[in-house]
Amino acid sequence: MTETAPRLVIDGGERTFTADLTVPDPVPTSALQRVEDIIKSARMFRYSGTDAEESETALLEKEFAEYLGVKYALAVSSCSSAIFIGLLAAGIERGEKVLMPAFTFTAVPSSIVHAGAVPLLVECDDNYVVNLDDLEQKIAANPDVRFFLLSHMRGHVADMGRIVEICKANNILLIEDAAHALGSTWKDQPAGTFADIGCFSFQSTKMINAGEGGMLTTNDEDIYAKAVIMSGAYEKQWTKHFARPLRILDYLNKYPAYNVRMNEVTAAIARPQINIIDRKGEKFRANYFRLANILKRSKHIDVPDRIDHENPVPNSIQFNLRGLRGDHIRTILDALKQEGIGIKVFGMSEDNARCFWNWRYLDVEDEDLPITEKMLKTACDLRLPVFLETDDIDTMGALIVRVIDRIQNTGLATPA
Ligand SMILES: Cc1ncc(COP(=O)(O)O)c(C=O)c1O
Repeated sequence: MTETAPRLVIDGGERTFTADLTVPDPVPTSALQRVEDIIKSARMFRYSGTDAEESETALLEKEFAEYLGVKYALAVSSCSSAIFIGLLAAGIERGEKVLMPAFTFTAVPSSIVHAGAVPLLVECDDNYVVNLDDLEQKIAANPDVRFFLLSHMRGHVADMGRIVEICKANNILLIEDAAHALGSTWKDQPAGTFADIGCFSFQSTKMINAGEGGMLTTNDEDIYAKAVIMSGAYEKQWTKHFARPLRILDYLNKYPAYNVRMNEVTAAIARPQINIIDRKGEKFRANYFRLANILKRSKHIDVPDRIDHENPVPNSIQFNLRGLRGDHIRTILDALKQEGIGIKVFGMSEDNARCFWNWRYLDVEDEDLPITEKMLKTACDLRLPVFLETDDIDTMGALIVRVIDRIQNTGLATPA
């Protein structure tokens, strides 16, 4: 169908969208000299120097903690490592259940499994955030549950006031997976700082692109002290952190060293990016809302409103297709691909790692999550890298709306 269809006409001229939406965001060139110096010195290990001042990783921790306004930040090899170490530092026990939203990336339940625990999935609504009624029901049905690992999937931050309230009322320790939400706020408070533990990712598609890497944040001295030891600060290496509460000595050699440290090169790539989080965030936000407003013109596209008080920094957009059958959605996705816009519907590919039914290392057959399942079947996912300009957004938006409406108007798709 798309082969014989005329090219779409935008602004009076033929125009196809040619940008590669998979390109990661650039790293400030100032990182280059630092990386070169570190490699020349061969001191890539974070503890090669004599003190924190000499460590790029320690400086990154200090500046990251300052940016978020938290007491402690511990650099680790990934956000998954931060979740793993965080759960252990918070006292998780083998076989214990951990509540988590059913809409997230496979790394999240995997980190729970890594810590010897068992994910307990909570429904997510078609605005992509956790369903608080289901959260409360699952807490009531599992009165012993002590942990909630909240994932701000695709940067959608839920009502944090209610979530903190629910956790407090039920004696539940909250951990935030803010891998996608660095730079977002809810009521002006940064995502990742509502919980007892915040976890962040510096993998290439995240706000800070260091290839890989992560950060654990907390205001809790005990959790920080245990996490430092478990990240791999053996013997006196803990003295090479800026934050070094003596409490660390209580845990030295009493907890395993899992060696999930960050290395100096990663830290040098990440560090200059702290200064650009807010500027990037503004651009992400402007692009997101501009595109959302264009997409809302189609009656087949539902871009759910964001949660009140959320100030997001989305580097992707999610929207739900309405009144279209699965085969029609496939036709639309193919047509858009031809136009250079690769949109994925989470629930339409066999192996999508963001669909809970594909986490087969869990007992997913037993999961009954009809709300999340329905959402995932029609929820579209489109990356919006930072290089996109207003013109690109307008072109993409017009293309998406026209392709959907054209297919609808040709009678190829009839409302289901
Ligand atoms: C929502 C979410 N949480 C956590 C992670 C884990 O991050 P990392 O790759 O740094 O372990 C990812 C990875 O992409 C993710 O998408």
